[in-house]
Amino acid sequence: MGIHGTADPPPPARDLRPARPGRSRQMTPIQTDALVTEVAADGPYQLVRLQAPALATRVQPGQFVTADPSSLRASLGGALRHPLLPATVRAEGLDLLLPPAHPAAALAAGQRVNLLGPLGKPLRLPHPPARLLLVADGQHLPALLPAAHRALANGCPVALLLSVPTAAALYPPSRLPPALEIHLVTADGSAGHDGSLLDLLTGSGEAPLLLTWADRILLATDPVLYPALAEATRAARLSPSPDFAQALLLPTIVCGVGACRGCAVPTRRGYRRACTDGPFFDLLEVEAE
Ligand code: FES
Repeated sequence: MGIHGTADPPPPARDLRPARPGRSRQMTPIQTDALVTEVAADGPYQLVRLQAPALATRVQPGQFVTADPSSLRASLGGALRHPLLPATVRAEGLDLLLPPAHPAAALAAGQRVNLLGPLGKPLRLPHPPARLLLVADGQHLPALLPAAHRALANGCPVALLLSVPTAAALYPPSRLPPALEIHLVTADGSAGHDGSLLDLLTGSGEAPLLLTWADRILLATDPVLYPALAEATRAARLSPSPDFAQALLLPTIVCGVGACRGCAVPTRRGYRRACTDGPFFDLLEVEAE
């Protein structure tokens, strides 16, 4: 089938999640065959547009899907499904913004890919007039975009603290929501501030004030930074509320439905499953492994 074709009707939804009392906001995952309708370079990313209406109506900000590796041209190897966090959720499907080396970036228009989702917990987003701060590096920025769009649509002020290696690796700001207040840091100083996220959040400029400005923070960076970012948060906030700062942690996903513990994340309250309790966790509760 060619570009912009029409996907076959998805297979009947199959309940794949063990019963978990009190999790009514999480919709039952389904498997569906999505059609790739467009693949194109989009700034530093590869845009992969997937048509999957039965799935798109279920995915909330913070949730993810997994792709059958046999659907992907280039595989990381093994038989594990690949977790994918959508950058945009449309009525008809999902848009992915992927690093060019990601196996799903090699998909071609007209291909079909078997998806399982939605997986994980929807994010708890603030309500107006609360303010949302996003902290991301370039690789993980797309994972926060659904939350940014939803919070802005709800009327919340949203600021983004974004770190990229160099100006050439920056996603064009014109492609981001106009109402988003962007604070940029580059490792080589070619755009925005010179340095790293930590330099900025622990320095003497205005960035540390963002930690006191925000009513909620979402973080998506290399997890090795999370302990230091947690310290910076504790230094700025005397007694942050639970889930004040939520950080993306998405380890290897095996079953995707809470049955295998293969995605365990250590926290101060014991191990949690990324596929059912995450993939965003309280930054101040996460334990270094
Ligand atoms: S991947 Fe099996 S419990 Fe999460």
